[in-house]
Amino acid sequence: MLSVIASLVKKSQEAKNQAYCPYSKFRVGAAVLTSDDKMFTGCNVENASYPAGLCAERTAISKAVSEGYTSFKAIAIASDLGDQFIFPCGVCRQFMREFGLKWDIYPTKADGSYQKMTLDELLPHSFGPGHLGGEKHK
Ligand code: THU
Repeated sequence: MLSVIASLVKKSQEAKNQAYCPYSKFRVGAAVLTSDDKMFTGCNVENASYPAGLCAERTAISKAVSEGYTSFKAIAIASDLGDQFIFPCGVCRQFMREFGLKWDIYPTKADGSYQKMTLDELLPHSFGPGHLGGEKHK
């Protein structure tokens, strides 16, 4: 699993190179690992109408879902921040939560160092599909 995470982190850094962020100039990349070990990447995609912009995490997850993958093991997030980890925003945490609480989030620093957290830790007491009578992810 360790080397898989190392390559997930690398993919997230590569995806960051595609960031479309002319307004914030804050580049973000993400790489999500599906339960059957496929990787999908994404970058932030900003918009002249600022709220229409999309975070890297939601880009990556939407790419996976649109290809038929809805079960995830992990997501790595990369930015240019050297002295702190890049954590997913609240909207992205909720977006991830749709697909379960037990998967791993890997916030990284620019040098590729990372920490591991579960979504449960990042978004406690969350609202999810089970509350609407949908699938209850563990
Ligand atoms: N951003 C992400 O893509 N992911 C995060 O986890 C934090 C923020 C983007 C959104 C926007 O394009 C830029 O970073 C500045 O907020």
